[in-house]
Amino acid sequence: MSPTLTQLVAAASAGLSRNPDVAAAAPGRVNLIGEHIDYCDGFVMPFALDRYIVIAAVRNGSDIANVSSAGLADASISLHQPQEIREPKWANYLRGVIDGFQKIGYEIPGFDAHIASSVPGGAGLSSSAALECATATLLEGLLGVTLPKKQKALLCQHAEHAFAGVPCGIMDQFASTFGEENRLVMIDCQSGEPTLVPFENPALSVIIANTRVHHELSDGAYALRRQHTEQGLALLQKASWRDVCMADVESAWDQLGDPVNRRARHVVSEIARTRAAAEALAVDDFTALGELMYASHVSLRDDFEVSCRELDLMVDIASDIGPQGGVFGARMTGGGFGGSTVTLCETYRAGDIMEIMRTRYGQQTNIVPEIFCSRPSRGAHLIEFDLVSPNQSAR
Ligand code: GLA
Repeated sequence: MSPTLTQLVAAASAGLSRNPDVAAAAPGRVNLIGEHIDYCDGFVMPFALDRYIVIAAVRNGSDIANVSSAGLADASISLHQPQEIREPKWANYLRGVIDGFQKIGYEIPGFDAHIASSVPGGAGLSSSAALECATATLLEGLLGVTLPKKQKALLCQHAEHAFAGVPCGIMDQFASTFGEENRLVMIDCQSGEPTLVPFENPALSVIIANTRVHHELSDGAYALRRQHTEQGLALLQKASWRDVCMADVESAWDQLGDPVNRRARHVVSEIARTRAAAEALAVDDFTALGELMYASHVSLRDDFEVSCRELDLMVDIASDIGPQGGVFGARMTGGGFGGSTVTLCETYRAGDIMEIMRTRYGQQTNIVPEIFCSRPSRGAHLIEFDLVSPNQSAR
């Protein structure tokens, strides 16, 4: 069982020398559909997971942030000088967010902080965005300010670009910031506006299957995909992918060349699939939604080439269970090159489906996957301390 939010707050608080002055929580995310198109002006449909990173902090009267987390090297961050990329690497997400606050003109008071997490790392579920958004929310709490949510999400995206070297889109930080219970965060990435879409049918469940295979996004593969889409758009002589239709891609196929033509086909078809998915969801047509998810996976596998053997296997297992076994659809989710799949299924069969996925995947890979259900949950927020009993929050 994954720890509850209250348990995480207690675990983060227990790493401090006294009761926290401030604690902040931010969730990971899963994306139902709309993959690798947030940096192409597309639409994406993630939701905030009920898996959180919690940071608890006490002011220490100095100009240093001392940050710790079980199993990781402690980090010491000087707050009164410009931030730089340094060791330990994981703390660069915090440095990037601190840098964003410093650039707006805030003077951050020194603090000791401890981090607890239930977001699986390296699983394509945005543990890095959760860390950035939890940090930003913690700083808001320490400074007694509240940034507009969009500004906060963009500041966190900047941290990822400049301090982690991943030229990501806006999906993860928006989902972690804007998420709400029972709502998808549908984002129009051209306008940069999120819309909260109801997702509360109790008959429908979302299974997340972490393959436990992981390739770093910062190894250049993600950046290369983004470059391909930029090259494609330039060759098509369009200002935005929203102005490109499939006929444009087909007529420029040879000129675009391989692999840019296939990347372009993915972008245009995935934008159309995500629009269709929103329509299917609005009328509770889960069969249509599921078919769109399978088609998205095929496109990511063959045209965008960001899947891998283990992700394909997990999707195949879900699709073999099929509608007769309660599965509507499945696909890889997140950046790819490993990580997780997302499966849409009937709630009353979710337990059996997860068991089959676990067993068959284990038999064929000798890897024990991490499989769980999740529902749309609350985005980044400060913790109200009266929710945690004194016994839990003190060491
Ligand atoms: C990563 C990035 C996101 C998005 C996805 C793919 O999670 O951080 O911005 O591009 O990959 O959809």
